[in-house]
Amino acid sequence: GKVRAPTHIISTISDDRGDEPCYAGVPMSTIVQRGFGVGDVISLLWFKRSLPRYCTQFIEICIMLCADHGPCVSGAHNTIVTARAGKDLVSSLVSGKMSDFSNTGLLTIGPRFGGAIDDAARYFKDAYDRGLTPYEFVESMKKKGIRVPGIGHSQELPKGKVYSEARLQRLRIKSRDNRDKRVELLQKYAHTYFPSVRYMEYAVQVEAYTLSKANNLVLNVDGAIGSLFLDLLAGSGMFSKQEIDEIVEIGYLNGLFVLARSIGLIGHTFDQKRLKQPLYRHPWEDVLYTK
Ligand code: ACO
Ligand code: LMR
Repeated sequence: GKVRAPTHIISTISDDRGDEPCYAGVPMSTIVQRGFGVGDVISLLWFKRSLPRYCTQFIEICIMLCADHGPCVSGAHNTIVTARAGKDLVSSLVSGKMSDFSNTGLLTIGPRFGGAIDDAARYFKDAYDRGLTPYEFVESMKKKGIRVPGIGHSQELPKGKVYSEARLQRLRIKSRDNRDKRVELLQKYAHTYFPSVRYMEYAVQVEAYTLSKANNLVLNVDGAIGSLFLDLLAGSGMFSKQEIDEIVEIGYLNGLFVLARSIGLIGHTFDQKRLKQPLYRHPWEDVLYTK
């Protein structure tokens, strides 16, 4: 019989050998004619299927809401510093690992900043599927010394200063009294269009418990996307249980933040170049020099 020589590469998401490239079997002309959006293209290239409109719109909303969060967040700050050092677009967007303590641009995205979506999905799914109460879940995480991914928000609290409680409240970027608008918008959309939001409701119960401990321990945008994406995967009827487990285990969801924030970081690079900003140097006054 005939034997096919093994190939060096196996690929299942796209094919450029015909008249026109196809994404998961869908030709580019169809993508254009049917008015597909970025959410549809992500469905094809990441999930290898066409998802219903409410799902692709949810993906697009995630991308739009996470595209930027101002110049002060760690990724944008680093992109700005790199652009001001005269580096090109791609370097400013990603940049290299400068030292063990300093990453820049996209490389800043990780477990504390923007890259907690996959772990939020993993831990919320595991806890919900095992029937843990929010108390049992949060306390078991505490015992393991792991911060709950998807809970908490970075604060603007320069070290070494003393603040009144009222001033502290104002400096807290997100808290019980100043919720993240992005989280509210995602929750509202899902409540309207998703058949079920049980994972998100579980995340909200976890948030109620963590808020009883400290008022800055809100459900953050990573936690909202992580829990809602579980609802999208489970509720759409388009994925088997095994496929959902695989998506969560591989960790597709931080990709949403990486993709989204690239938009903002590119914008910050252009902004700095347009403004002809000089090399950045951090002010001495903002450093505690000590032995
Ligand atoms: N779970 C449990 N306890 C927490 C959590 C959490 N997720 N976050 C903060 N705390 C508690 C801890 O006691 C912590 O003290 P520790 O340093 O001894 O662990 C204390 O609050 C510190 O609180 P803050 O000063 O308000 O928070 P900080 O600025 O150090 O951290 C951060 C903010 C990194 C977002 C943190 O809340 C965290 O690690 N959360 C989990 C990861 C996460 O979801 N990141 C995504 C944020 S959204 C985004 O980046 C787009
Ligand atoms: C973001 O989207 O970058 C923020 O939630 C993080 C921050 O520090 O505000």
